[in-house]
Amino acid sequence: MKFSERIMRVKPSPTLAITAKANAMKAQGIDVIGFGAGEPDFDTPQPIKEAAVRAIEAGKTKYTPAGGIPELKKAIVEKLRRDNNLEYKVSEVTVNCGGKHSFYNLAQVLFEKGDEVLIPAPYWVSYPPMVELADATPIIIHSKEENGYKITADELAKAITPRTRALVINSPSNPSGATYTREELESLAEIVLKNKLIVLSDDIYESIIYDGLKFYNMANLSEELKKLTIILNGVSKAYSMTGWRIGYIAGNEEVIQKVEIIQSQSTSNPTSIAQWASVEALLGDQSVIDEMVKTFDRRRKLIVNGLNQIKGITCQMPQGAFYAFPNVSGAYKLPGWEEVAKKYPDANKSSTLTAYLLEEAKVAVVPGVEFGNDDNLRLSFATSDENIVEGLKRIKEAIEKLA
Ligand SMILES: Cc1ncc(COP(=O)(O)O)c(C=O)c1O
Repeated sequence: MKFSERIMRVKPSPTLAITAKANAMKAQGIDVIGFGAGEPDFDTPQPIKEAAVRAIEAGKTKYTPAGGIPELKKAIVEKLRRDNNLEYKVSEVTVNCGGKHSFYNLAQVLFEKGDEVLIPAPYWVSYPPMVELADATPIIIHSKEENGYKITADELAKAITPRTRALVINSPSNPSGATYTREELESLAEIVLKNKLIVLSDDIYESIIYDGLKFYNMANLSEELKKLTIILNGVSKAYSMTGWRIGYIAGNEEVIQKVEIIQSQSTSNPTSIAQWASVEALLGDQSVIDEMVKTFDRRRKLIVNGLNQIKGITCQMPQGAFYAFPNVSGAYKLPGWEEVAKKYPDANKSSTLTAYLLEEAKVAVVPGVEFGNDDNLRLSFATSDENIVEGLKRIKEAIEKLA
């Protein structure tokens, strides 16, 4: 079979692949502890489920406008006003089939061959392939660990060429949890304005934030920056609704119209029932988020403190999201590493370590190389305290065997 050059450029999502492998081992009766999944382990809150049931019973089970029902668009406008202090018109928002689809649609609408899109590393695994699927070129800006995995204005300025179209900002970040302060965004904003870059602001983890930190995006900084910023968000992470597939975009009206054209000729509307559930999520009781964040906060400290007690591993405390992103490069220098590298040969050390941990410790993690940093692993702490304690014990034993 001959395939398009486009699809041959792209490989499947590694995080979904690791989760599938761990699940397959579990199905064989092997007791695997999974730190791979990028989704909250809580049930979707009851009032949201009930709104979906009401929608089914009321017969709201037919096509909707491709870009979403007006009620959900209004709820998004209200959410942006209430939580982000940002004013948008209903015509400046659109609803997509998950946050990933929001980014995919935007890439299709905005980018083409020759365009460069700046992506700070460590990055969410899906940004570069989605930029490539639009025939554009992802340009990776490597942030430094000592800067908390955030890029600086200097690093941004150096990456700009006449072909640069856009900058992706994901704060809080998957995988590092790095969360930009208002001042840090202001320092990047000068370069954004000077070069008239489009900012794709992926705010999907905005409500999962710790230590009283306040969330800001570029659109908060000035009217001029709001015009350059396109906000991507969704209900998946904040309301534990990953399976419902609702994401949304807010920004320039013309961009929104074009996204709706793509959507009308591809997926059509996001599921009608999930849209009605999302109205409840956005307008209903928001205290469900605080409860989740409290639990994540406890697990965050548990996992980071535990990781820091393992030889060869150091881990910063993430400021947001639900991932630990330890630096494991010390493990690559342990005496037993060569044996491991021979047994699990891979061009990337973090993939070798991941394979070793899965086989030896029955623990599933995601190799940092998939996020642009081969010195790291990503561990999701969207799992129980018991799993975290047991998983850390197994990792410690496996790594200390190499010492
Ligand atoms: C940074 C980031 N953006 C967007 C998404 C998309 O979420 P979904 O498509 O499930 O709404 C994810 C999910 O893992 C993510 O980590």
